[in-house]
Amino acid sequence: MINFELKYEKTIKQFLERIDFAPDIAIVLGSGLGEFASHLEVINSFETKELAGYPSSTVEGHKGKIIIGLYGGKKVLLFQGRIHFYEGYQLSECLLPIYLVVKSGCKNLLLTNAAGGVNDYFKPGDLMLVNSFNYMSLYKEVAEVLGIGSVDQRNMFLDFPSKVINNKIRMGALNGKVTLKEGSYWFSKGPSYETPAEIKMFKKFGCDAIGMSTVHEAIFGAFLGLKVGAISCITNFAAGLSDTKLSHKEVMETGLIAKESFENLVKSTIEGL
Ligand code: HPA
Repeated sequence: MINFELKYEKTIKQFLERIDFAPDIAIVLGSGLGEFASHLEVINSFETKELAGYPSSTVEGHKGKIIIGLYGGKKVLLFQGRIHFYEGYQLSECLLPIYLVVKSGCKNLLLTNAAGGVNDYFKPGDLMLVNSFNYMSLYKEVAEVLGIGSVDQRNMFLDFPSKVINNKIRMGALNGKVTLKEGSYWFSKGPSYETPAEIKMFKKFGCDAIGMSTVHEAIFGAFLGLKVGAISCITNFAAGLSDTKLSHKEVMETGLIAKESFENLVKSTIEGL
């Protein structure tokens, strides 16, 4: 595996100086979902640019802040914004936050994202628990970071999606009275949205939602022993499934529509940990 200790020695040190305890859960907030941070009783909050070598997020809606706080008595480590592969970073740079989660001593990771709905039964504003995934376009980069060759992936990723975390999220949905769909999240490298023909093909092959993040973070986290779950906020009909022009603006706006149910789901999931 790439030597994160060596590559990010200073970053890790500065991060650990700002955190006094092992969090119960770490959460990465995706596009348009960053406002969840306002629900925490903040213990410490800092800009990622305070950490030497931390890649800066260039995407609107990704603030580049790390917040440590309490919700319902649980200790939460929040990444307000993420680093995307399509921003031109190396995959290992996109995975630094996940490595920091491991270093913090936290064992549970919840990844959230904005995604295009591919399943006919999904509409903007829906929430989807990720129950399987596809990342064929990123095999090479992930294998390079992990330092693996041809492996049977069934032996590697048995714990993503983590049954334990996914059941907590399902219980969270029940307790928080939030409608939660489930499905397969497919990774798309971006930064462009997909073509209608691609979406037609993905749909036939079992894709329910498509997005430009999460999978490599989940694999890396699971590889390092974290229990990882992921929630997608469906922000748009995927390309060709509606007449609406795809844009990051639409993604951000729908994030706001789903805000209440998303936040209720995350809150009740934390409460049930
Ligand atoms: N495609 C890829 N990524 C996305 C989409 C989409 O339609 N919506 C939000 N992120």
